[in-house]
Amino acid sequence: MSVKSKSVLVTGGAGFIGSHLVDRLIQDDPKNLVVVDNYFLGHEDNLVAARAARSDLEVIRLDAADLAAMQDVVTARRIDTVFDLAVVPLPTSLTYPAWTVQTNIGIATTFCEISRRGLIERLVHYSSSEAYGSARYVPMDEQHPHDAITPYAASKSAEDHIIHSYVQTFGIDATIVRPFNNIGPRQNPGTYAGIVPIVVKRVLDGVPIEIHGDGEQTRDLTFVRDSANMTVKIYDSPDCRGKVLNVATGHETSMNELVRRLLMILEAPNHPIVHTPARPGDVRRHCADVSQLTELLGERPQPLSDEQLAETVDWYRSVLS
Ligand SMILES: NC(=O)c1ccc[n+]([C@@H]2O[C@H](COP(=O)([O-])OP(=O)(O)OC[C@H]3O[C@@H](n4cnc5c(N)ncnc54)[C@H](O)[C@@H]3O)[C@@H](O)[C@H]2O)c1
Repeated sequence: MSVKSKSVLVTGGAGFIGSHLVDRLIQDDPKNLVVVDNYFLGHEDNLVAARAARSDLEVIRLDAADLAAMQDVVTARRIDTVFDLAVVPLPTSLTYPAWTVQTNIGIATTFCEISRRGLIERLVHYSSSEAYGSARYVPMDEQHPHDAITPYAASKSAEDHIIHSYVQTFGIDATIVRPFNNIGPRQNPGTYAGIVPIVVKRVLDGVPIEIHGDGEQTRDLTFVRDSANMTVKIYDSPDCRGKVLNVATGHETSMNELVRRLLMILEAPNHPIVHTPARPGDVRRHCADVSQLTELLGERPQPLSDEQLAETVDWYRSVLS
């Protein structure tokens, strides 16, 4: 099975992972490729390469939680497959928890309904390792209990339960991709920025880097193009249908180690670092068990390399300076 000859919709396609997924899908030449994004955090610049490669790429500025609007989009364009990546992010949920939860659940439910009504063949939905909360055991397999810490995490967990319920009750064809922390170019460098752009900016501005807590909290870091690539392979593989799949490397990196690697790349190994109080909602430990993915696809993403980190740093340098 391939997206070639399919009409494909990517929600959140102007965002970080979504725009890389759009680039990757273009390589497989889908019949139609449509992006829905409300530009809450997404950016038109993220789609420059995609527009150059596919002049017929259609980008629609709409709320992916709006069922009537999404039903119109899907039927008018005879969409076969939806890759659902639109999301209100974690930091927003600390300021606007109810809105974040309502929107995220609204987006997932919208595409469950569209599937139930038989308007699309297949749904590939992006979950998050945040749904697990801090690791109770490592590596964390897909059966790890859900113990959401933030409203964002709770919304991601709820989305997964809703999709599962539609699979069980109505037999919709849905796969849940559960990524861990993605790193790479195009992650929003402004409001709600992640650790990499914050470190790059602080080094460029000559101000100390702040590490929340002791810095020994760990994440499973995956290069964003590897996640996009795995997502397409998951779509292509009939064995992945109906499954929940961790998409990560199975390798743990502490924040202290990540900052040290970034400072080496930035040629500022002695840049000052200060430790500030731990943030609410920061999970302590994340490391994926990717044996299911490896068994089904015969491969998994490799640990984030220095070359991938350097490419990411270069991109942030170009947009921040
Ligand atoms: N970035 C990570 O490290 C990471 C880790 C695990 C899971 N995920 C998941 O991957 C998916 C993509 O995340 P990302 O990091 O690319 O985030 P992102 O914020 O860069 O992209 C999300 C996109 O969704 C758009 N959006 C938000 N609300 C919308 C709405 N109501 N209607 C239409 N568009 C809307 C935003 O404008 C943005 O372009 C999400 O499901 C997220 O939970 C991300």
